[in-house]
Amino acid sequence: MQIMPTFSTLCIVISAIFVGFGWYHIVKGNRQTHEKLMLWGAGFALTFFIVYVSRTVFVGNTMFNGPQSIKLFYHIFLFFHIGLATTGGVLGLITLWLAFKKKFMKHRKIGKTAAIVWLLTAPTGVAVYVLLYILYPGGMSEPVWKVIFGIH
Ligand code: HEM
Repeated sequence: MQIMPTFSTLCIVISAIFVGFGWYHIVKGNRQTHEKLMLWGAGFALTFFIVYVSRTVFVGNTMFNGPQSIKLFYHIFLFFHIGLATTGGVLGLITLWLAFKKKFMKHRKIGKTAAIVWLLTAPTGVAVYVLLYILYPGGMSEPVWKVIFGIH
């Protein structure tokens, strides 16, 4: 089992669980609980991001090692997941910003989209993890800095 991708995937899942409960609590009118849970969700998302970027730079990204027949499907799915994660991250930051500026009308609007996108990012991330490390393990990885400087 690869520690870093397992840890970072777990962080996305935990973050999404916090966001789900955070949403539930604002619908129930519990503003303080909403704020706390969403900040925890953001913290786990940030942890994911730091681990992911460190891994990309120092270890590298893992190549898909499954059958050729589903390789294209995997890459389209990966693109979809990366799109969701990036959109969710950016919208999440805007949502937090709007909350701290107390622009709650806008926060409510953008927050809904941010939460939905993040709730979709988590399961698609788990699916990528399962395809890359559980079902078809053993893909090679090269760190970005090695690729840049041509060191082998
Ligand atoms: C990225 C993190 C966050 C997300 C994704 C998020 C998401 C949401 C969503 C979806 C709603 C609307 C719920 C509904 O009407 O169904 C909402 C409302 C609200 N949020 Fe957040 N939220 C976040 C962080 C925060 C923070 C940090 C605060 C406190 C400073 C906060 C304060 C509020 C308040 C006061 C409302 C109610 C607004 C109103 O009634 O008009 N939120 N949020």
